[in-house]
Amino acid sequence: MKFNTMTAAAALALVTPAMLAANPDAKLVVNGQIEMTTETEAPEHLDGLRTIRSGWTFRTEETQSLQMDDFDNPAMIYVDEARDAWYAKDGAADQSCASCHEDPESLEGLRAELPKWNEEAGKVYTAEMYVNECRTERMEAEPWGWDSQEMKNMTALISSVSRGMTVDVQIDGPVRETWERGKEIYYTRYGQLELACATCHEENYDMNIRADHLSQGHINGFPTYRLKQANLVSMHNRFNGCIRDTRGVPYEIGSEDFVALELYVASRGNGLSVEGPAVRN
Ligand code: HEC
Ligand code: HEC
Repeated sequence: MKFNTMTAAAALALVTPAMLAANPDAKLVVNGQIEMTTETEAPEHLDGLRTIRSGWTFRTEETQSLQMDDFDNPAMIYVDEARDAWYAKDGAADQSCASCHEDPESLEGLRAELPKWNEEAGKVYTAEMYVNECRTERMEAEPWGWDSQEMKNMTALISSVSRGMTVDVQIDGPVRETWERGKEIYYTRYGQLELACATCHEENYDMNIRADHLSQGHINGFPTYRLKQANLVSMHNRFNGCIRDTRGVPYEIGSEDFVALELYVASRGNGLSVEGPAVRN
């Protein structure tokens, strides 16, 4: 292990090689149909990893199996709720998502490219930003909170129609500056424990920390259903929790910093499959 500071070494004293590694040859096929790439060569821009692995490969067989069939996946209830919301009119313009987008399947492929550059807005947009822009500008409805149940449900639906597609987030062109900012955040050590995202998810993945099997921290499975929380969890909520664990001061959910981090982290998973809504512990 290559910890530069005593604090980090002390903080991660509990890090041990994982004893109960999940079966490395397990294959993720959802509903006997959607074949997922859970391990592949790291994208070229990523120097710190040779192989990238989905968070699914780090979970126990029991948790893994919940994601293999939609009848077992507890997140699917929320996806169904979002389908209902999709067809329900809301706001002063008396429109539903379906009024303009037809079926949710019309957004197939979108998740694999998000976050992406929005030319009109002149900045990087996440799924939440697109949804709220449609709600406020086009439906004249109230925006949904970034971490609200309605928003998590809708982003789960948007992800679900792209499951199995290859994550392919752009990192060049107009998004570059935002991507660089996200990369900077990823490698910055935070909090009293002086830990960076990379300390855990790049240098120590596959180890155990506080009885948890450390993954590479990809976001191809988001929003994820966390058994611990018995609900969907957004990417920014997860970032927030991870930074809080280092006793650092988190950026705000929905902030430009977290959007930049989301873009960077998404790009580390280029080549994996869209899995969201995945199941995690
Ligand atoms: C009055 C029409 C209208 C309504 C209602 C509407 N949208 Fe949109 N939406 C658009 C238009 C126009 C765009 C931008 C053009 C495009 O990319 O399709 C857009 C873009 C989007 C995008 C980005 C798509 C992409 O490919 O970049 C998402 C996601 C989205 N809408 C979701 C929703 C959701 C969810 C709802 C309901 C809560 C909704 N929209 C309601 C018209 C609408
Ligand atoms: C002290 C170690 C530690 C640090 C630092 C840390 N995390 Fe985590 N992270 C964890 C643990 C433990 C989990 C739960 C097990 C897992 O999936 O790795 C987790 C989970 C995640 C997940 C969920 C992965 C999945 O497949 O569901 C993401 C995404 C994530 N972290 C991103 C980040 C980002 C971004 C940062 C930096 C802002 C960060 N983490 C910093 C320990 C850490």
